[in-house]
Amino acid sequence: MNPTPNSVVLALVIAGGHIALPAIAADATHARSLAATCFTCHGTDGRSVGGVPPSIAGQDKNYLLQQMQDFKAGKRPATIMHQHAKGYTDEQLELIAGYFASVEPGAAAPAPRAGY
Ligand code: HEC
Repeated sequence: MNPTPNSVVLALVIAGGHIALPAIAADATHARSLAATCFTCHGTDGRSVGGVPPSIAGQDKNYLLQQMQDFKAGKRPATIMHQHAKGYTDEQLELIAGYFASVEPGAAAPAPRAGY
């Protein structure tokens, strides 16, 4: 008796596992990972719990950028932020400010968003 013809062989080939992200998505991811260092104190996505330190989610981009530059330059007195701001280039501060400006202000729980 002949055996049943061979069962289907499923060959799954993953070519390199490479996913090409559009440049804009890669930028957004980069901005969020830079901004993630701020979440420890300012809350997830900049929505701080109880407002201490201030929530930075959804604030004006130029305002945020100006504050960071003032902290960095020592123009705005601070307990922590003057040290923290020094760790970033102006380009990074701009990305970070843009990220927080794009976040909806509000409850501490992150709102569901496409892409995460
Ligand atoms: C170790 C805690 C800590 C971390 C980390 C931190 N902050 Fe702050 N942030 C503070 C505190 C505290 C203040 C109030 C000013 C001060 O005393 O330094 C503040 C104030 C600010 C303000 C002023 C808010 C306003 O309404 O004027 C901005 C903007 C800001 N932080 C942005 C950031 C960004 C962007 C990051 C990440 C790159 C960050 N902070 C990381 C603690 C922190």
